[in-house]
Amino acid sequence: MANNIDWGNLSFGYFKTDFNVRSYFKNGKWGELETTDSETINIHMAATCLHYGQEAFEGLKAFRGKDNKIRIFRWEENWKRMLNSAKGVMMAEVPQELFKKAIFTAVKLNSKYVPPMESGAALYIRPLLVGTGEQVGVKAATEYLFLVFVTPVGPYFKEGFKPVSIQIVKDCDRAAPLGTGNIKVGGNYAASLKSLGRAHNEGFSTVLYLDAKEKKYIDEAGPANFFAIKGKKYITPESTSILPSITNMSLVELAKDMGLQVERRKVQLEELSEFDEVGACGTAAVISPIKKIVDRETGKEYVYCKDGKAGIISTKLYDKLRAIQYGEEPDKYGWVSVVEE
Ligand code: PLP
Ligand code: COI
Repeated sequence: MANNIDWGNLSFGYFKTDFNVRSYFKNGKWGELETTDSETINIHMAATCLHYGQEAFEGLKAFRGKDNKIRIFRWEENWKRMLNSAKGVMMAEVPQELFKKAIFTAVKLNSKYVPPMESGAALYIRPLLVGTGEQVGVKAATEYLFLVFVTPVGPYFKEGFKPVSIQIVKDCDRAAPLGTGNIKVGGNYAASLKSLGRAHNEGFSTVLYLDAKEKKYIDEAGPANFFAIKGKKYITPESTSILPSITNMSLVELAKDMGLQVERRKVQLEELSEFDEVGACGTAAVISPIKKIVDRETGKEYVYCKDGKAGIISTKLYDKLRAIQYGEEPDKYGWVSVVEE
C-alpha cells in the first residue's frame, strides 16, 4: 500500500495513481486494452464528445477488507448502465468482457492506492466512454475511446455519514422528463453545475431537484438518489428523469430483508413533512442522511435528525451496506467480486 497518503483525510477529488487503461473503437471494432501512465488524451478537435456531449461515464468503488482482499461492488450493474447510456446517445457499446477486464486491470495495477479499511475511504473507479471521431453536423461519431482510471476517495459530502442540509430549487432542472436524466451522460451534470454551485455558496451540500414538468414531485438529490423512511416503509421516487442508482437498488434489497415495505413511486413534495428519515444515496455519497431541506423559493424548512444524528433505519442500512462492501458480512446477494492480485 502507498505509505505517503493520509488515507483518513482524503476528499472526493482527483488523486493521481500510476496507470489507466484504454481501448479504441475504429472500423467497427474495439482494439486490445492498452495500459498507460499518461494522464492526458489526444483527440481530434472536432470530436463529438467535445461539441455535442457524446460521452458517458460510470462510477463504482473497490474496497479493501480487514482480510486485505480487494472487492469491487456490483460492476455488472455499472456495465449495464453504461450500455444504456451508450444506446441513449448512439455510441459504440462496450462489451461486458472488455468492461470487466478494464476495471479489474485498472484496480490491480493501482492496488497500492486501495485505501485501508479503517480509513473508511475507497478506490473510486471511473469508466469513461467518449466519441472521438470528428463530425461537424450533429451526428454520431464513428470512433470512440473507452478509458478507465481510478483514484482513492473519501466521502463525497465532507460531512461523511453526518447529516447534511440540502436545497429545493424550482428555477432549474437537471434533466427533462423524456430527456437524458436516466442515463449517465455529461450533459446532465453540465446542466446541474449552476444550481449546485449556487447551493454550495448558500451553505447547502446539494440540490433536491423536482420533476421538470410540474414541480410537484421529488426527482433526486444532485448526484444521488433520494429515499425516505416513514414508519416501516422505504420510499424512493419513480421518475423518468432520474438515474437508476445501483446503491438505491441495493438499499431496496436490504430494506426488504430488514422487514421494511418498499414503495418506488411518485413522491409529492408535500410528503416531506410526513417522513421520519430522509437521505441521499449513491456510490460517491454512500448514504448521506439529511437533517434539513429548505425550499429556496418559499423558505419552507423540513427538519429531521433533531438529535443531530442519522436516523436508526438509515444507520442500519448504512452499516449493512458497508459490511457487505468491505467483506465483513457474507455476500449473500452476490454483489462483490474479489480482485485476485
Ligand atoms: N444520481 C445521479 C445523478 C448520479 O450521478 C449518481 C451517481 O452515479 C447516482 C444517482 C447514484 O447512482 P449509483 O448508486 O449507481 O452510484
Ligand atoms: C457516483 O456516485 O459515482 C457519481 O458518479 C457521482 C458523481 C457525479 C461524482
